[in-house]
Amino acid sequence: MISIIQEEFKKRFGEGATCYASPGRVNLIGDHTDYNLGFVLPGAIDKAIYVAIRPTEGPVSRLYSVDYKELLEIDMNGALPDKLWARFIYGVVQEMKKRGATVGAFECVFGGDVPLGAGLSSSAALESVFGYALNDLFGLGFSRADLARIGQMTEHNYVGVKCGIMDEFASLFGQKGKVIRLDCRSLEYELVSFEPVGCRVMLIDSMVKHSLASSEYNVRREQCEAGVAVVAKHVQGVESLRDVTMDMLDTYKSEMEPIVYRRCAYVIHENQRLLEGCEFLKKGDYKAFGQKMFGSHEGLSREYEVSCEELDFIEEIARETPGMLGARMMGGGFGGCVIHLVEEKVHDAYLEEVKSRFQARFGQTPRVIDVVIGDGARKLI
Ligand code: GLA
Repeated sequence: MISIIQEEFKKRFGEGATCYASPGRVNLIGDHTDYNLGFVLPGAIDKAIYVAIRPTEGPVSRLYSVDYKELLEIDMNGALPDKLWARFIYGVVQEMKKRGATVGAFECVFGGDVPLGAGLSSSAALESVFGYALNDLFGLGFSRADLARIGQMTEHNYVGVKCGIMDEFASLFGQKGKVIRLDCRSLEYELVSFEPVGCRVMLIDSMVKHSLASSEYNVRREQCEAGVAVVAKHVQGVESLRDVTMDMLDTYKSEMEPIVYRRCAYVIHENQRLLEGCEFLKKGDYKAFGQKMFGSHEGLSREYEVSCEELDFIEEIARETPGMLGARMMGGGFGGCVIHLVEEKVHDAYLEEVKSRFQARFGQTPRVIDVVIGDGARKLI
């Protein structure tokens, strides 16, 4: 991939490019907890967005997308571009400027192998690779945590998704063979070794495009905030679901809509599952960890209601399969992937089974994506 991008750069803009990469992510457990200032457990993957880039004179930047085969010329001091892909890059520059940086114009070619629309955060990879590259190229002095915030705020202010910080954080901080136990309130994190011998991480894409995702995502966020507001009326110091216990939630249950109660209960339980699951991981007990993954799916499907028929169907087959340590829908939901932690020896048979049953039920074959936990944002050459 990187050589295609370098070649394209040479063809269009000549010599002198620097290359950078920033990956997509998986999340082993802890979804919809990040914007509630809880915990997440993502890892970067071996699939990334790559950019070849060089500063240029004048006000206009030239951006070429290898995947869309589109060239745009943009004045980063001008209006918001129409093209969605360009908004991510424009947004990153604006967020940097808001924080006092002077970002010059640039010429670049970018593209990647993060599967689109599968919930592997290709958009966070795009924000992160541009954040990382521009920071390095123009000597802006932002930390990786600053760059994660810049990416997150790009989503909020230029794309319209009120996301948490997990995706950008994972893309920037990932390390090979480690998952990141991130406290989304303090941004303190711990790298936890994740090398399940004899097992692999595999994703099955439900092929459902999550069209509902951004609107329903924002609705979930509001429901959580509604629950927090009820508890905060009674308990001092409650600012997010991170500060709310099940006892508090039960005490004030009658003052909230049943749906709000369910959403909040899910988040509180998911944080608990993650913290307990992490302890199992540290002991190398992947089997017990996998049980938490199944529990997470149940919560996402029943209490948080962000799953869909296709995801539930895959997860159910996984749950019945001996040698399947864990499986759950992953990410924002309403489509995207089921992440599996599966023993090598049952991997192939399971795939055959799930593909043929899925085909019989939904009339198409789901896409299979094998991933390895890899490194975060970096300079290549
Ligand atoms: C999306 C968002 C993240 C996170 C997940 C759900 O990927 O971008 O911030 O909220 O959904 O865990």
